[in-house]
Amino acid sequence: MSSGDTADVDTGKLYDENASRWQRREPSSLSDFTARPAMFELCDDVRGLDVIDLGCGEGYCSRELASRGAGSVTGVELSPEMVELAQSQEATLGQGVVYRQGDVAQLADPSGSFDLALGVFVYNYVGTEAMGESFREVHRVLRPGGAFLFSVPHPALAFIQKENAPPFYFDVGDAGYFSGRDRQFQGEIYRRDGTALPVQMVHKTFSDYFSGLRAAGFSGMPDVHELAVTPEHLELDTGFFGPVADLPLHVAIRVSR
Ligand SMILES: C[S@@+](CC[C@H](N)C(=O)[O-])C[C@H]1O[C@@H](n2cnc3c(N)ncnc32)[C@H](O)[C@@H]1O
Repeated sequence: MSSGDTADVDTGKLYDENASRWQRREPSSLSDFTARPAMFELCDDVRGLDVIDLGCGEGYCSRELASRGAGSVTGVELSPEMVELAQSQEATLGQGVVYRQGDVAQLADPSGSFDLALGVFVYNYVGTEAMGESFREVHRVLRPGGAFLFSVPHPALAFIQKENAPPFYFDVGDAGYFSGRDRQFQGEIYRRDGTALPVQMVHKTFSDYFSGLRAAGFSGMPDVHELAVTPEHLELDTGFFGPVADLPLHVAIRVSR
């Protein structure tokens, strides 16, 4: 894809083609350090909870929640290759996680099946309409009092970065923060070994996320965390984390049903 080209790239195909490169047991890509640990903390105590992991990929977050004592973990994922990878790891580890191929906009689960719905970097792959459908489905499958927690790239990141460079960027081409809504941007996120993974963002503003949640029935005040490089990251590896220090990298949003 050429620089600034925002023509749509098929997400399932992108992940089918790159599935093996996503497989990991240890933190590896930038967001394994700057987002996922914070997401796990924001899940609070998951012991005994029924959890759905939306856009679970090869199961990195599902495995972590299972190891933290979740009562059940169900992973839903678009890419058949990613599902297969998740299932083969489950076959080795035997954590009891159930993975299935599916779209987060149409969940096969009965109403009130889960206490926690987690979506780690999945809503950046869908447009506003599909995100709204998924939010309604999440509201339906959560029990009253259940929690919905998701993370996406920070909506402002790509527009305040000075250049498209490692370890994380999206190429917005000629799009602006508002004119770029619902356009798909290609990007890359780097691993600490210096290799890159291709990622996408269908750009949405904070208004899009919050009005989608409200329309789906989540009427309480969302808990919002703008995630960034910390002093601990810089101490670990200044060369890797330094270029994106002091930038708003990701946003985590938690609401109650
Ligand atoms: C960046 S990966 C994150 C995977 C996993 N959540 C993690 O944190 O490791 C995004 C995943 O979302 C999946 N995905 C994208 N759109 C989806 C959809 N509409 N329904 C289900 N999965 C989807 C992709 O195939 C990909 O595996």
